[in-house]
Amino acid sequence: MTENAQVGLGVNGRPCRIAVDTRTSLLDLLRERLDVTGPKKGCDHGQCGACTVLLDGRRVNSCLVLAVAADGAEVTTVEGLADGGEPAPIQSAFVECDAFQCGYCTPGQLCSAVGMLDEVKAGWPSAVTEDLAGAPDLTDEEIRERMSGNLCRCGAYPNIVEAVRRTAE
Ligand code: FES
Ligand code: FES
Repeated sequence: MTENAQVGLGVNGRPCRIAVDTRTSLLDLLRERLDVTGPKKGCDHGQCGACTVLLDGRRVNSCLVLAVAADGAEVTTVEGLADGGEPAPIQSAFVECDAFQCGYCTPGQLCSAVGMLDEVKAGWPSAVTEDLAGAPDLTDEEIRERMSGNLCRCGAYPNIVEAVRRTAE
């Protein structure tokens, strides 16, 4: 027997209220019920990052978040990164740096980069930060570590790192 629950959340600034099977992931709610298809389903197991979205500003793998757990939250997907028709700085940098090939991982990379740059701004250290007391220095090693949850099967990593570095600068 399935259980349904009402979920109310904002998706890219648009409020929505919908009944969902309590087993539904946020990714499936977005893609299958709300036609928000920017977030991609790569593995459905939290291993590839293609489904990354921002949940109240923090990056999450939406395949691992139950839709009911997002009740009351604001979800930002790649569709919501642009501002008034202008691409976000990270989107422009991806284009300038040619930071994609097939593009399947790109929506997740972009959302992850936005969340990651906010984490750096907030002073959060990563696993490779040497000085845990100081402000993180966004070296290429730091960028690679902080973006390591987002896989790119096309291997566009050097250009992704460059795009993130340019945006941070
Ligand atoms: S689809 Fe969510 S991490 Fe791969
Ligand atoms: S651009 Fe093809 S998977 Fe990353």
